[in-house]
Amino acid sequence: MYNNHHVIRNSRWFIFLLWMIIWLSACSTADLPHEGDLTSFTSILAAQLQSLAQPPTTPTLLPTSLTPIPTPTMVPPASSPSPASPHFSLTIHPLRQYAPAHNLYIGAAVSPKPLLEDPYYAAVLGHEYNLLTPENAMKFEFIHPEPGFFDFTQADVLVEYAEQHGMTVRGHTLVWHLQLADWVEAVPCDQMEAVLKDHIETIVGHYRGQVYAWDVINEGIGDDGKLRDTIWLRCIGPDYIEKAFTWAYAADPAAKLFYNDYDIELENQKSSGVYELVASLLQKGIPIHGVGIQMHLVEAPPAAYLAKYMGSFADLGLEVQITEMDVRLPEPPTSETLIQQADIYRLVLRVCLEAPNCTAFVTWGFTDRYSWVPEFFPGFGSALVFDADYVLKPAYIALREELGKGE
Ligand code: GLA
Repeated sequence: MYNNHHVIRNSRWFIFLLWMIIWLSACSTADLPHEGDLTSFTSILAAQLQSLAQPPTTPTLLPTSLTPIPTPTMVPPASSPSPASPHFSLTIHPLRQYAPAHNLYIGAAVSPKPLLEDPYYAAVLGHEYNLLTPENAMKFEFIHPEPGFFDFTQADVLVEYAEQHGMTVRGHTLVWHLQLADWVEAVPCDQMEAVLKDHIETIVGHYRGQVYAWDVINEGIGDDGKLRDTIWLRCIGPDYIEKAFTWAYAADPAAKLFYNDYDIELENQKSSGVYELVASLLQKGIPIHGVGIQMHLVEAPPAAYLAKYMGSFADLGLEVQITEMDVRLPEPPTSETLIQQADIYRLVLRVCLEAPNCTAFVTWGFTDRYSWVPEFFPGFGSALVFDADYVLKPAYIALREELGKGE
């Protein structure tokens, strides 16, 4: 008798301990329980048990208790991906679920290669985001690699994926001084205007009705607040900017047209220069609908200035969007730097949510597995909201909390 009681008492303890371990693991690796979310705890538990029971070859899609999210169609891997987290599962309440209530697109820059080759990438993207923007596929060197020859194959992969997953596409970018095709440098200056006109008309025409907004001009203003010295300025003259917007408008009058730049969240000559340029375009009746603030950060931007800057465009009747956010950290990240990073993401999203004209929040990628940062900033990385194994980071949780506030 004594022994049996002992065994029963011990096994109760054992079951209790097992339950606690499962609960703690569920809280740390899946969705956080959310205020007013009665189903989340049991769903999380069920999901975790399910994902632990399955080999990590395909992600588990968990039910969502609010807006139904279309099930991501898995793209068959071209080659076996290296394993992501063994606890990989999709969140129950993805970021995109909260976007409509804020009238906000929540997006990420995307590349076709991982989209086709890494099923984890494809699954998380469509599940979490309702907007994508091509990281490189629409840049001059890829989409217009030879004179008179346009290659839409890479960008088409992204646009098709977006359509299959109920996502909106933000086009990036029509006019930039970087990532140009080599042949452009050899074009005689007096033919440059025709080249740019053809470039804009062909691309915007190809995606008419499929791409909802374009970064027409990327980084056209220098640090001194004046027009940047580019091949376009030198050959076409200062009105290349208004011409570019006008050609884009003619090719798709329904598309929203943006000017996009970096460091304009700061009070400096460049942010003033961008404001003056945009205001002067409006005065001339040029079709422009908004300003993209890239937001590649290492530290928190001044929130008050950012809010004021957004407001100054609202006064002009324009939208603003956060178009390329990432927050790079010295490698390796620590729990402290990851929390600091989360605070920066939270701050920028909060300013955007508080600005009625801020209509998109887009990060430059979403997983540290494929970020541009380590290559361009040696010693830095971990800039995005999912880690390299698709485990959500404190930054993701901060975004989710901000989006879910007031529900
Ligand atoms: C700029 C460009 C983007 C991208 C990033 C870094 O911000 O607008 O297209 O190239 O730099 O990758």
